[in-house]
Amino acid sequence: AIETFRFDGQTVVVTGAGGGLGRAYALFFAARGANVVVNDMGGSVDGKGRAAKVASRVRDEIEAAGGKAVANYDSVEDGEKIIQTAIDTFGHIDILINNAGILRDKSFKNMTDRDFDFVYKVHLAGTFKCTKAAWPYFVRQGHGRIINTTSASGLFGNFGQVNYASAKLAIVGLTKALAVEGKGSNIFCNAICPVVASRMTETVMSPEELMNIRPELVAPFVAFLVHRSTTSETGSIFEIGGGHMGKLRWQRTQCLQVSNNTPISLDELLLRWNRFNCSDPSRPSSDAAYSVSPSVNPAGLRFDGRVVIVTAGSTPTG
Ligand code: NAI
Repeated sequence: AIETFRFDGQTVVVTGAGGGLGRAYALFFAARGANVVVNDMGGSVDGKGRAAKVASRVRDEIEAAGGKAVANYDSVEDGEKIIQTAIDTFGHIDILINNAGILRDKSFKNMTDRDFDFVYKVHLAGTFKCTKAAWPYFVRQGHGRIINTTSASGLFGNFGQVNYASAKLAIVGLTKALAVEGKGSNIFCNAICPVVASRMTETVMSPEELMNIRPELVAPFVAFLVHRSTTSETGSIFEIGGGHMGKLRWQRTQCLQVSNNTPISLDELLLRWNRFNCSDPSRPSSDAAYSVSPSVNPAGLRFDGRVVIVTAGSTPTG
């Protein structure tokens, strides 16, 4: 069959592409005609050390199969150097896959400032720095695609990952805000929550489980999302692992609307609390995030597009 979803002439930057998921992306895009920047610093799973051969090996693998690739060994903390490699080698960048990551798992009790800060630097600041460097090129050429990598740990919580979980959920906020800013420039930004066999998961899953979640199974979904013909999604979160693919969305429960002039009594809150556990939630989007549904708000008080600041003891102000 002829492969219709191709990437000929497009440049894809994949961070952390020396192993696991990143390597699967790099091979997939290269096989479909893309120029690939294979970035990887080559450290250990907790981010210690460096090894150039990790990225070089994947570049060699791509070239041996007749594809086009360049290796880059910088940390995502220096995102501008990675994007510069794309520009110097291929003249442009079309797609950025922010995938590099590390773990510094510790119970909250034992987590140090350093464990917290370092995970933030690689995941959140790394995603910011690479995206920040690519953005002006995306704006100038009038198109760009970004995939950020979140985690079930951030979306649902997990033991021993306060640092990782909070950085991963911050990446969701970054994704949604960038999606809003990119709309006028044809820049699409989505987040994926993968579950794959890699050195990150091989210590916590059984060989049978790992066999069913090969990283190669995630790559096609991501490639579909960043293809130029896919214009239906931005600011979305997808969970992908093994044969499973799904979209995660926020929900808003039934709301409670009382007088805007009188603080609610605690007894009334107790009486009406069950509506926050209702079984028929609505689904707010970025457009509706700051608005209160008129149906539950006869006073018509709205906060569209405005930042709502709620401080202890006050009512929301625009
Ligand atoms: P992995 O450890 O095989 O891949 C991460 C790669 O990033 C490594 O090759 C590493 O050398 C590289 N890297 C680390 N720090 C870097 C830095 N500062 N600059 C450049 N490269 C750096 O693990 P995996 O599983 O492939 O992880 C890929 C992404 O998916 C990560 O962001 C991870 O947090 C995320 N993820 C993975 C899940 C899984 O089930 N494996 C679950 C949820 C999220």
